[in-house]
Amino acid sequence: MPARVLVAYASKKGSTAGIARAIAKELQAMGHVAIVIEMKDVSSLEGYDALVIGAPVYTGSVMSDLSTFVSRHKDALARLPVAAFTAGIAPVYPKTGEVKTFTDQLGAALEPKTLVAVTMFSGALDVKLLSFIERGLTSLLKVPTGDFRDWDAIAAWTRELPQKMGFAASPKN
Ligand SMILES: Cc1cc2nc3c(=O)[nH]c(=O)nc-3n(C[C@H](O)[C@H](O)[C@H](O)COP(=O)(O)O)c2cc1C
Repeated sequence: MPARVLVAYASKKGSTAGIARAIAKELQAMGHVAIVIEMKDVSSLEGYDALVIGAPVYTGSVMSDLSTFVSRHKDALARLPVAAFTAGIAPVYPKTGEVKTFTDQLGAALEPKTLVAVTMFSGALDVKLLSFIERGLTSLLKVPTGDFRDWDAIAAWTRELPQKMGFAASPKN
């Protein structure tokens, strides 16, 4: 039986949404059903076997949509295997923070849940999508711009999830 996995994400500029879609695609390639929904639009976790949840970092904190989601779905979360990721510039530009700080924030936001996997992916900073203030801030901090998403790393992380979540790859037929 294929598992039904919800990939819930928060995203301001779209790059984390792209990571969520890549995760879902990889799970689908393994024969599972993966549904991608922006976390603020998730009304229920009913009918899912597992959850992958992801939100980007803005000015030192994982987007607060994550904690809103966790408090809204606390009871359902307790019974599901959960993997979490964040996205940001820190993996390619450590002046924007320490990766461990952000993965720890994910763990803390989901407590007392033990995550089956937690990671930080490199995100993207598209100058065209930045506000005047954001542009000033990023150029002041000399933050590199561009798309740093590592699709191979995202796929490799995803491929390990089914086993960690307690369901093996489902053969496609
Ligand atoms: C105003 C602003 C602040 C940011 N602050 C951080 C930060 O503190 N640490 C970090 O690693 N990345 C930071 N980033 C980079 C974002 O996390 C990165 O661009 C991410 O991919 C955005 O995700 P989104 O496109 O889904 O909104 C910041 C980006 C902007 C525009």
